[in-house]
Amino acid sequence: SGKINIAIDGPAGAGKSTIARRVAGMLSYIYVDTGAMYRAATWYFQQLGIEPEDEEKVLQTVPNLVIELIPGEDGQRVSVNGQEATEEIRSLAVNAQVSRYAQIEGLRGRLVSLQRQMALRKGVVMDGRDIGTTVLPDAEVKVFMTASVEERARRRYKEMKERDQITLDQLIRDIDERDRLDREREISPLRQAEDAVLLDTTNMTPDEVAEAIVSMCRTYV
Ligand code: C5P
Repeated sequence: SGKINIAIDGPAGAGKSTIARRVAGMLSYIYVDTGAMYRAATWYFQQLGIEPEDEEKVLQTVPNLVIELIPGEDGQRVSVNGQEATEEIRSLAVNAQVSRYAQIEGLRGRLVSLQRQMALRKGVVMDGRDIGTTVLPDAEVKVFMTASVEERARRRYKEMKERDQITLDQLIRDIDERDRLDREREISPLRQAEDAVLLDTTNMTPDEVAEAIVSMCRTYV
């Protein structure tokens, strides 16, 4: 039996990355965090002082954008054009603007083609917003992960470095706003693919969720 691709989509803070990483570990597959790529691009544009409204400048920069996801001891490292940005891409400044840059078609085109290249040889667990619908429409297993917005905010809050600078209520509003932008954008909005399995993880442990997804793969691997 050969390798397959697994697509995991859903709103912010649903636990996609924790689960995708775990499933990849269980199957000895490669984990690709596409949100980290949009975050890395956002961080880079912010460094250059290029606003999301300035589409022309964004599009001039896109062809030179090199984003690398490097597997490391304590998780994945992220670099943009050779600059390490692993911690920076999780900042509140990036959170606040990533969904605005992510609306830009030319940027999405570039990142989607990098993502497809990573999945060519199969054996990939990829998480994001448009993996099942746009990036890997032929993925053998597709999951749409959700949880209540309160639970999602709690999960995000726990993994945040700047907890002292934001309240849980503010984080709920941030997440709601990001989901709204991601759902309402024109190009590849966040939505469940027709052939994706809906998984509400509000009352599930990470072990249970990972096990459920690995079971879906059993017919293939
Ligand atoms: O997954 P994460 O919350 O880190 O993603 C950050 C943002 O990147 C999302 O809110 C969304 O705007 C964008 N994104 C996207 N398409 C993806 C992954 C992330 O538009 N496949």
